[in-house]
Amino acid sequence: MLSRTANQSKTVSTDLVLPGETNPLHNLFGGELLARMDKTASIAARRHSRHIVVTAAVNHVAFTKAIPLGSVVMIEAKVSRAFSSSMEVYIDVWIEDRESGERIKANEAIYTFVAVNDAGRPMKVPELVPETELEQQRFDAALRRKQLSLVLAGKMKPEDATELKALFVE
Ligand SMILES: CC(C)(COP(=O)(O)OP(=O)(O)OC[C@H]1O[C@@H](n2cnc3c(N)ncnc32)[C@H](O)[C@@H]1OP(=O)(O)O)[C@@H](O)C(=O)NCCC(=O)NCCS
Repeated sequence: MLSRTANQSKTVSTDLVLPGETNPLHNLFGGELLARMDKTASIAARRHSRHIVVTAAVNHVAFTKAIPLGSVVMIEAKVSRAFSSSMEVYIDVWIEDRESGERIKANEAIYTFVAVNDAGRPMKVPELVPETELEQQRFDAALRRKQLSLVLAGKMKPEDATELKALFVE
């Protein structure tokens, strides 16, 4: 089966934070950001797999920096590793400074998508070939994150999570 690079799945969404999307502190509501990241990441997974994709898990979200009302928000998503039918998508969120145009990293997240057919059955996806050092790091760690996600979901026994366990033993 053919392979694809992370860049081939790269998806960037740029949007504003409007009044109806904020919390009482006038910062972007967390659930709104989760939905925006889900949409952008699903397009990245679709570009990689060329199939219908569904969100299987939200593996990690770090709301590191509040995103104020009126901000221009850029969400960049790329597939970081593909397994059999599942794909890990890494999401970086940036705010663009109005005056300098400089981009400030605000958040990051990791979602898992599964490619499915019209009946919702998992489908094989192409391999992901990392090209940069950062893509290689994310690729290498993705298997451990998959194992952790499956253990937490009760779909894998902890004793079978070999690569994950290796993190904790010398
Ligand atoms: C995701 C879904 C297709 C998985 O179906 P399933 O019957 O569990 O299929 P499998 O057990 O064969 O798993 C398929 C793949 O998903 C992965 N997977 C399933 N649950 C996972 C989880 N919690 N974390 C990480 N990967 C997961 C499996 O490891 C497998 O990956 P692989 O084929 O690359 O090895 C199914 O659970 C589903 O349709 N869920 C609802 C999705 C949905 O509606 N999302 C939208 C919003 S809530």
